[in-house]
Amino acid sequence: MKRAVKIFDTPYILAEKFAEELVNVATDAGKTSCIALSGGSTPELLYSILGSHYSNSVDWANVHFFWGDERCVPPDDPESNFGMTQRTLLKRIVIPDSNIHRILGENEPAGEAARYSREIEDFTVGRDGLPVFDLVILGLGEDGHTASIFPSNSELLDSESICEVASHPVTFQNRITLTGRVINNAERVAFLVTGSKKAGIVKKILNNSISGNNFPASRIVPTKGELSWYLDREAASLL
Ligand code: 6PG
Repeated sequence: MKRAVKIFDTPYILAEKFAEELVNVATDAGKTSCIALSGGSTPELLYSILGSHYSNSVDWANVHFFWGDERCVPPDDPESNFGMTQRTLLKRIVIPDSNIHRILGENEPAGEAARYSREIEDFTVGRDGLPVFDLVILGLGEDGHTASIFPSNSELLDSESICEVASHPVTFQNRITLTGRVINNAERVAFLVTGSKKAGIVKKILNNSISGNNFPASRIVPTKGELSWYLDREAASLL
């Protein structure tokens, strides 16, 4: 596993640079790419840039979008990760509806986790018995969670399932999340982390401190793929 830490002056420059990386994956000659998107506020800028700068320069018909996690809410709920992506990216590009693999947050959670696992299996190639994403984009919570794998349900890192139901430790909101083994089976995994509030957790995780090994995000170590940390100066300020 190769790990790259890339630091950028501002969130906007970070998003511009990562957009180039995503476009490279999306336009990889002659193949369909399966990309798992992250929720949260950090990637919104990335999706806006993709929607404004790359709407016509990428054949989005070669891209299948999935989500690394979703809140168990309807797509028009302000909390919906899909809804955020729809507003910032999907409504601004030409992409077949069949290429957009939404987690149906309005469904009963356990049944949806099983259904989405099957959908992922149907559309991705497999390796070592697990689906392979070409790119998984992740955020990082101040508690060290990523996707919806929180410290309180870190067993999901080792789950045999492709997707599981998780519960936000403060709001108890149900989530559907990719599991750790699936994330670690990806060709590329990229954390996008910005803001001074994340500086402490970034330091703990990237400085390999003893305490840093206990966070879910610390256990994201692709078995064969590449790992990148895209940080702005504020998030990297304690490194
Ligand atoms: C979600 C994300 C979650 C997020 C982190 C960071 O659904 O909220 O998957 O893992 O990436 O909580 O969120 P921010 O980017 O908003 O800080």
